[in-house]
Amino acid sequence: MTSLRASEEAGALLDIAVATATEAGRLLASWRGDERPEVVQTKSSPTDIVTEMDRRSEALITSRIRARRPGDTVLGEEGGQTAGGPAGPGRDDGPPGRVRWIVDPLDGTVNYLYGLHDWAVSIAAEVDGTVVAGVVEVPRHGETFTAVAGQGAWLHRGDAEVALHCSAGVPLGQALVGTGFGYDAGRRRVQGEVLAALLPHVRDIRRGGSASVDLCSVAAGRLDAFYERGLNYWDFAAGGLIAREAGATVGGLAGRPESTSMALAAGPGLYQQLDEFLSRLNPERDGPRSQ
Ligand code: IPD
Ligand code: CA
Ligand code: CA
Repeated sequence: MTSLRASEEAGALLDIAVATATEAGRLLASWRGDERPEVVQTKSSPTDIVTEMDRRSEALITSRIRARRPGDTVLGEEGGQTAGGPAGPGRDDGPPGRVRWIVDPLDGTVNYLYGLHDWAVSIAAEVDGTVVAGVVEVPRHGETFTAVAGQGAWLHRGDAEVALHCSAGVPLGQALVGTGFGYDAGRRRVQGEVLAALLPHVRDIRRGGSASVDLCSVAAGRLDAFYERGLNYWDFAAGGLIAREAGATVGGLAGRPESTSMALAAGPGLYQQLDEFLSRLNPERDGPRSQ
């Protein structure tokens, strides 16, 4: 496919992602917040919760994507991976399986439950295994972060559109660093040790509660860096593209790509310093689960 066609396709996928994320964000924001939504399930641990609203948001997103692109694969946090349907008349979505949507229907569920504002709908579109478009919709801030591969990252607020650039030239000792913690107690114990070692060497630490928002904060220069052990793909697929398109280096430790083991994002020089610092702490280990 020519690069012009590829970028037109990525732009068309972004349009679908934005329309869908906006609608899902509206649904989530329509919960008035005067009583907590019901927790319907716990996952990896009692603190790893799913609310009725996570499920409703994902159902809406999946149905909208299916209506527009019935042949695509959808990987959603709550529903897992589902392949597209067979070819039919009027389809415009190309060979089945080429496009996969990566969906976190509500990233920052604990913030949402407590009435805190940092939560988002995160939707990324992959073509042949590469993320080419992503949106992180943050309804309580009225902000939509978007990126198409090779076309920069953007913040949309009302009618205003601003090109995003991560911070540059910030040394580790002056860096505001975001991070997050998993839900398993053994993993958290190690995450706490790593954080305690890092804290004296940076400006300060933030734990925002939504990895996709954190990555967009790196893109916008609101955080200088972000790292987290043990994210899921849907936590960083869209936000990772947005941070990268804003000039950040996004990856894992020691030259590895970002993964469910470790994800880092920062301007290039700071990335290297953080990578070296964290690598010495062996942060990709886990403590015993039941300690
Ligand atoms: C969580 C948030 C949080 C991060 C956790 C994620 P969820 O996603 O992104 O910031 O620290 O690792 O699991 O459960 O709210 O979708
Ligand atoms: Ca998430
Ligand atoms: Ca989620």
